[in-house]
Amino acid sequence: MSELANPTAERYDVLVVDDQPMIIEAVRRLLATDTNVRVHGCGRAVDAVAQAIALRPAVILQDLTMPDGNGLDLVSSYRSQPSLAETSVVVLSATEDAQIKAEAFARGAADYIEKLPPLAEFVARIQHHALASRAQKQLVNAAVAVERAQWAETLIFRMVEMARLRDPTETAGHVQRVAGISKILFRAWAKAHVLTDIECNSKQALLRIAAILHDVGKVGIADAILKKPGKLDAEERATMERHAEIGGEIFFGKRSELDDPAAEVARCHHEKWDGSGYPHKLRGEEIPLFARIVAVADVYDALGSRRAYKEPWPRERIEKLFAEEAGKHFDPELSEILLANIDEVEQVRDAFPEQEIHAK
Ligand SMILES: [Fe+2]
Ligand SMILES: [Fe+2]
Repeated sequence: MSELANPTAERYDVLVVDDQPMIIEAVRRLLATDTNVRVHGCGRAVDAVAQAIALRPAVILQDLTMPDGNGLDLVSSYRSQPSLAETSVVVLSATEDAQIKAEAFARGAADYIEKLPPLAEFVARIQHHALASRAQKQLVNAAVAVERAQWAETLIFRMVEMARLRDPTETAGHVQRVAGISKILFRAWAKAHVLTDIECNSKQALLRIAAILHDVGKVGIADAILKKPGKLDAEERATMERHAEIGGEIFFGKRSELDDPAAEVARCHHEKWDGSGYPHKLRGEEIPLFARIVAVADVYDALGSRRAYKEPWPRERIEKLFAEEAGKHFDPELSEILLANIDEVEQVRDAFPEQEIHAK
């Protein structure tokens, strides 16, 4: 037998709708050279659409004349089924007739094959239609994935809006800037630690969402504390600090690969490298990397932003603080990365100014 099969290709199904069992058998024998194909037979026109819907094959080979039905009408029936949108329909005919051929194509057939052509041609044509079907499926899946990602992103920003109802500093602008700065820090860190591009890109996508949600635990803190003008007393401060644990709890019980990084960042973004942070006084690399990164990005953005109680700090003052706090508040390596990439970080801050985001 000729070696036409591609061992890395995915398996696919072919449904042969023909009242003559010997044709189904002949197709099965011809396609046996392709180890990825599974051939299914259907001998009655009345069963064909239901069988096709149940199987959702890559290719349907449809006989033109059957005792209990018309092949061209079946082509139209397949084409009207949304669940068969990715299936290629190929008409198998005993005769070559230009008018019938044109009619078959007009009804949505992808090909018209006289039964049965030489082995190599037949297998190549079926494989071509199976590939077209797969490409169509991938396009549809990609479109669905994009739509789902848009829903997820919308919901995430709605969660940020919920947190902002409690804490007015928790704006979409702030979280976008924290996410953008975190990405710069992570990419530089990943380069220094020789992560592959694939690893870097997938982790970076998780970090972005986790960074956006870093303070979402503030939904659990009372307005009287979060909106209190002036200093909090010790008890109020302890209550406010609960937002880290509450944020971690929101992502408890892993349902997707986002939950763990989001929980780590929410819970640990106020931990400090020297062990003096909260809620668990973790130190050094006990603090998850993403939380160490977001800690740097969050403080950097807060210092550079106007708050009710302070004006934005000038850049030199912020740089000085990060140099001094390296190894105390912040991971020294990440402080160094921040200072080395500060122009790029400032570009992120410029890209998400506060008033523009409020308008969104
Ligand atoms: Fe926080
Ligand atoms: Fe924040």
